[in-house]
Amino acid sequence: SILIVDFGSQVTQLIARRVREAGVYSEIAPFGSAEAAFQRMQPKGIILSGGPASVTEESGPRIPQAILDSGLPMLGICYGQQALMQQLGGEVQAGDAGEFGRAFIAIEDTCVLFNGLWHKEESHQVWMSHGDKVTRLAPGFRPVASSPGAPFAVVADDERRIYAMQFHPEVVHTPDGSKLLKNFVRHVCGLSGDWTMAEFRKTKIEEIRAQVGDGKVICGLSGGVDSAVAALLIHEAIGDQLTCVFVDGGILRMGEAEQVVSLFRGHYNIPLVHVDAATLFLNGLAGVTDPEAKRKFIGKTFIDVFEAEAKKIGGADFLAQGTLYPDVIESVSFTGGPSVTIKSHHNVGGLPERMNMKLVEPLRELFKDEVRVLGRELGLPEIFVGRHPFPGPGLAIRIPGEVTKERCDILRKADAIYLEEIRNAGLYDAIWQAFAVLLPVKTVGVMGDHRTYDSVCALRAVTSTDGMTADIYPFDAAFLSRVATRIINEVKGINRVVYDFTSKPPGTIEWE
Ligand code: XMP
Repeated sequence: SILIVDFGSQVTQLIARRVREAGVYSEIAPFGSAEAAFQRMQPKGIILSGGPASVTEESGPRIPQAILDSGLPMLGICYGQQALMQQLGGEVQAGDAGEFGRAFIAIEDTCVLFNGLWHKEESHQVWMSHGDKVTRLAPGFRPVASSPGAPFAVVADDERRIYAMQFHPEVVHTPDGSKLLKNFVRHVCGLSGDWTMAEFRKTKIEEIRAQVGDGKVICGLSGGVDSAVAALLIHEAIGDQLTCVFVDGGILRMGEAEQVVSLFRGHYNIPLVHVDAATLFLNGLAGVTDPEAKRKFIGKTFIDVFEAEAKKIGGADFLAQGTLYPDVIESVSFTGGPSVTIKSHHNVGGLPERMNMKLVEPLRELFKDEVRVLGRELGLPEIFVGRHPFPGPGLAIRIPGEVTKERCDILRKADAIYLEEIRNAGLYDAIWQAFAVLLPVKTVGVMGDHRTYDSVCALRAVTSTDGMTADIYPFDAAFLSRVATRIINEVKGINRVVYDFTSKPPGTIEWE
């Protein structure tokens, strides 16, 4: 395994991800507890992350001496490079002008990290983000690449198997970065690369057992892949100490509630409380048209219902959540200051304190596509594994204006037709999210010589990698007209269909 010593970079988890992609198990330990993790793990190699501090300051974190003296292969990245150089006898200067963003490095010499990849005298794109820089190498090191702002962009000490780079190989803007990291773990550390999600599953199960003991765990299911995978993993670890609660507010897509119930009760035999709270939600939404008011009402009502159900089953010691790594980073503000609320996102935040529960979040270090791999590993049917994201407030934020049961039913039908056509055309997996929106606008039409006066349905489909930015999916006209015809013919209440051509930004993916 590889131990990743975290000096506080925003992207340390990406290092772990790249190491996983190279088929090697890794653990991240904050620098303060790295020595203990090192003794426990007995790793075959060390990666030192970047970080916001400066090694030129007294307070800048240091590499634990036991790790430095271990004789193991090491790779320092950014701050990790500077810490290595300084602690091994080189020199680092606080810079007044750093390098941020895209940079090109010149390859000056061969290096095992470049095997099969980079050659002498070539130039390659990397991603830099540093203010300080190494100004004198520690004894034993030779420079193998340089950039205008970092004369020692990559340095090597082959005898001690210590390598260090100023740029960030873990980010996608260093196009060959994952291969550099792979070369380190395979060729420098000599790891075979046979670790898989199956191993992750085993490790997590042990961790969950250790955390939970004989405590009780409650898990809210949303119908989405994250909470389903978290629940399956936890159930495998602790069996019936887990109870799942599925709050059905009547704002889910066609057939979704039935799928969740039959999967958990039927297929997996996991205890599941299915709360049909449609009346409560729809009554509360009556007359509500403001998007934020809808979101706040739904978020609060979910928590109320969930809490009441948790009390009914005698409470729980732990709340399980399918939190992913991007959810963790997004909740950390880069500036430390408040950011503007575009939309109040819905989750069960606040509940753990209210009910005095601790959190179990087994997916915290994974990215969405890794959760999908884990879901497949756990035997989760493809229809769940590959499902498009669906917002907590559900159809309520896809019905601008007042939300009623009747309008939810109309939208469910149109949405199901749209998704069926997308699947039939083989486009589902190429799209991040596709859904129908029911507008509070009526227009005049003519069907079979009769005048109609019905609602407009808008179709949305976007591509995205993380939901933060998105582009519209460019369907061909024949596809769109087929969907429009089917919706108008088959769904009473809709007589016009339009396509939303707005990217994000300036639009958001959901309409409210
Ligand atoms: P927006 O509409 O902000 O959406 O561009 C970005 C992504 O987040 C999803 N979304 C939500 N997910 N609770 C969620 O769990 C919410 O309240 C929520 N609002 C939006 C949206 O579907 C898209 O994938």
